[in-house]
Amino acid sequence: MNKKIGFIGTGNMSTTIIRGLVGNFEGINKSIYVSNRSREKAEKLCNELDINLSEDNIDLVKTCDVVFLGIKPFIYDKVLSEISSHITEDKLIVSLAAGVSMEDVGGYFNNPTKIIRIMPNVAVNVGEGMIALSFNDNVSIDETDFIVNLLSTIALVDRIEENLMDAVTTISGCGPAFIAMFVEALADGSVLYGMPRDKAYIYAAQTLIGTGKMMLEKKIHPGQIKDMVSSPKGVTIEGVYALEKRGFRNILMETIEACNKKMQK
Ligand SMILES: NC(=O)c1ccc[n+]([C@@H]2O[C@H](COP(=O)([O-])OP(=O)(O)OC[C@H]3O[C@@H](n4cnc5c(N)ncnc54)[C@H](OP(=O)(O)O)[C@@H]3O)[C@@H](O)[C@H]2O)c1
Repeated sequence: MNKKIGFIGTGNMSTTIIRGLVGNFEGINKSIYVSNRSREKAEKLCNELDINLSEDNIDLVKTCDVVFLGIKPFIYDKVLSEISSHITEDKLIVSLAAGVSMEDVGGYFNNPTKIIRIMPNVAVNVGEGMIALSFNDNVSIDETDFIVNLLSTIALVDRIEENLMDAVTTISGCGPAFIAMFVEALADGSVLYGMPRDKAYIYAAQTLIGTGKMMLEKKIHPGQIKDMVSSPKGVTIEGVYALEKRGFRNILMETIEACNKKMQK
């Protein structure tokens, strides 16, 4: 790895990404630099993963070619004001914050700045994350490919128009909560019929993973999977009917609508 990759903030998401990269790219640890408000936390991570600790945010920016902003959106103003004069035109900024546009980030710099915006989800933790990625006009195709290839080791990466980032946040960012509730409810239902709870969670979660893989790997349409399992006068179609009587799909669409409305406030 000839590029130096920096992370400002060693909180949940940066740590997850760094762990994933170190676990998947042999030797990348030597190219990773971190800085964090509380130094002890960053030091602990550096000792664990054998990555580099920068003196502070400015030192990190001066050292690194790529700078991930792993800080909360409300800290952006403080950190971007602090580092802006050290961001030269060759540096690449990767912004993680929900609700912060590339234009917002670019507003801190006098020069045209290369900005990539990503929206990872919590499943990056287990190497099955979803990461949406947008980039501004200053980023070259090679630079985008570099970041896409890097992140593809820890997640499925999709390039999208930035105006879809809010929609992404509601489906893959909030989605794990809704899917977990769905799994919990499926398990509750089978516990009602005598299934031990620990097994019920395993069966429901594995069914979720398997169904997801059928869609992603075999490209089977969700409606087709439903049809495959629903035989005439069978058990599954009875369940489909029960779900539809209560407006199952409508509830989920209204759920996503509620999240989108909340994001627009
Ligand atoms: N977590 C997710 O699932 C997720 C998903 C998608 C996007 N994101 C985005 O990722 C970003 C980080 O989220 P997170 O959940 O990882 O937050 P987090 O766990 O709270 O981590 C934020 C880190 O920033 C550090 N920090 C605060 N002020 C700083 C400063 N002035 N200089 C350097 N470091 C500073 C904090 O240090 P201390 O140790 O001192 O507190 C903390 O380690 C956010 O913008 C969020 O929107 C997160």
